[in-house]
Amino acid sequence: MSVTILGIESSCDDTSAAVVRDGILLSNVIASQAVHEEYGGVVPELASRAHQQNIVPVVDAALRRAGVDKKELSAIAFTRGPGLIGSLLVGASFAKGMSLGLRVPIIDVNHLHGHVLAQFVRENEAERVPDFPYLCLLVSGGNSQIILVRSYNDMEILGRTIDDAAGEAFDKCAKVMGLPYPGGPHIDRLAAEGDPKAFRFARPHIPGFDYSFSGLKTSFLYTLRDGIKTDPDFVEHHKADLAASLQATIIDILIDKLAKAIDATGVSTVAIGGGVSANSGVRQAVADLCARRNIEAFIPARKFTTDNAAMVAVAAYFKYLDGIFCPYDAVPYARVEI
Ligand code: KG4
Repeated sequence: MSVTILGIESSCDDTSAAVVRDGILLSNVIASQAVHEEYGGVVPELASRAHQQNIVPVVDAALRRAGVDKKELSAIAFTRGPGLIGSLLVGASFAKGMSLGLRVPIIDVNHLHGHVLAQFVRENEAERVPDFPYLCLLVSGGNSQIILVRSYNDMEILGRTIDDAAGEAFDKCAKVMGLPYPGGPHIDRLAAEGDPKAFRFARPHIPGFDYSFSGLKTSFLYTLRDGIKTDPDFVEHHKADLAASLQATIIDILIDKLAKAIDATGVSTVAIGGGVSANSGVRQAVADLCARRNIEAFIPARKFTTDNAAMVAVAAYFKYLDGIFCPYDAVPYARVEI
């Protein structure tokens, strides 16, 4: 009998629903919330309200596009955390109500677990997936981690950020340059026209596989402050070079620890996930590193790097196969590791 999962993602500012049947993606609908743009960041209260507005039409569209009747569903999956509590509550409550109505189980998914398993979102049987064990560089707005993935439901964090995440470094530096939120994609675009060696920013000296990005952020701010003293339009005159140098430094920091983790674990496959894995420089640098080490690189399609319910439905599919379900009194969590 086939297994059909409806996945719901509502951890931040995207309301998304997806249908996966026997591990193959049938639909993935995302409603992004434009309401936050004028505030320069996500406003939690507005995000919760927008999820409330979007959830019914988004789930409906996902089922319709998949050509699946709700009575065919085997389980309903939802992102339980980490994320904004008010936003998570919308998805969790909706999933519980729908599962009670249909008399099918619910499956809770850790958002980070979903980003890692985004590698397994397949639109057809022919698409290749990584062999276990492999290393995943998970770089999102709130996390920078190196994870040893032993199987679908067995992962170990080898390194994590001790302060800011790579995405925060992109977004905060972009903000002081006057770029819109989220700044990562704008830095990516500007970096293509700049000189990555034009500016030198601080690099961390942290033992092991852990990351740190707050020193880089401070040194970026000092560079801007000193530049503006002599040229009030410093940022405008140097924006491509600033973006290129910032991006190159973030990539060097990420790749340095990833290379050390590859050598220490001896894995033959590396994957990347999370919003920052949409960055052209990060994608190229990981591909180059794997080519140098003669190991395989899995770089996800850009549409599966940022928040989406496809990864939630796929992660839940593997939990379903292992018989891992969730009780009805499960509450969302704001912070948690894998
Ligand atoms: O994974 P994600 O959607 O959110 C979390 O779950 O945290 O990641 C969002 C992050 C933001 O920091 C955004 O600036 C960054 O991903 N991002 C990028 C790019 N696209 C998204 N950073 C650099 N280059 C990009 N092209």
